Amino acid sequence: MKIEGARVLVAGATGVIGAALAAELGARGAHLVLAGRNEERLTRRAQALGGAPTVLFDAYAPDSCARAVHAAAGEHGGLDAVLTAFGSVAFGKAGAVGDDIAEHLMAVNALAPAAFFRAALSVLGTGGTIAAITGVVAERPQPGMADYSASKSALAAWLGAVRREARPAGIHVLEVRFGHLDTGFADRAVAGHPPPMPQAGDFGAAVHTVVEALAADAEMVRTDSQGIAFFEPRVR
Ligand SMILES: NC(=O)c1ccc[n+]([C@@H]2O[C@H](COP(=O)([O-])OP(=O)(O)OC[C@H]3O[C@@H](n4cnc5c(N)ncnc54)[C@H](OP(=O)(O)O)[C@@H]3O)[C@@H](O)[C@H]2O)c1
Repeated sequence: MKIEGARVLVAGATGVIGAALAAELGARGAHLVLAGRNEERLTRRAQALGGAPTVLFDAYAPDSCARAVHAAAGEHGGLDAVLTAFGSVAFGKAGAVGDDIAEHLMAVNALAPAAFFRAALSVLGTGGTIAAITGVVAERPQPGMADYSASKSALAAWLGAVRREARPAGIHVLEVRFGHLDTGFADRAVAGHPPPMPQAGDFGAAVHTVVEALAADAEMVRTDSQGIAFFEPRVR
């Protein structure tokens, strides 16, 4: 995907990763639409990025995710990429985490991104991209994070199947399996307290790697044992 001039919807643009991705994409000439659940925070973010258009959604309402995609497509006469960077985490041993928290994580981390992408598949043309931030837990589930890990690997499985469905239509699917980054995400858990975290990776480099992966139509961003993000053109 050529970043300059690409019409990109960033869902979760009020988050630390979403905001940084939007900033780098915008700086490289993408035409952004920012999506989030909180109008005030979203407006502030859009102003910081030179007045990008905004659309509201709530991850609990799949209809609002699909509506956000269609509204975003209306802003620039179509879309070239839809990127989800929102999510939620909870900590605690599996037996102590309530059903309500497990449902919350599955709704926000798996079902809502899938709702965005279902709508995106009807809007994107050949060469379009859907991209999601999952996490290393999608391939290495962690104790104390069973439901978070399960929600991320559910989305990873969905993306893996859709990637193969979408290839013949020339639509790219990028999954981003970041390791720990120092964004404060763990401190905003909806339940429980974070265990000691590994050393955080280089945030700026991680964000830059995602933008480079989008530019290269790559399929996966992984994180090495040193916490450094790198991309793979094709999933093995
Ligand atoms: N930080 C890490 O170490 C790390 C590592 C791997 C993967 N990730 C993934 O990266 C993504 C972003 O994380 P971050 O580090 O940027 O954390 P963050 O700053 O806390 O961002 C979380 C984003 O999710 C949004 N969100 C949460 N619940 C929502 C809901 N019900 N409806 C709509 N939006 C909702 C938040 O909106 P508000 O601004 O309105 O709260 C915010 O925009 C998450 O999916 C996370 O799992 C993070």
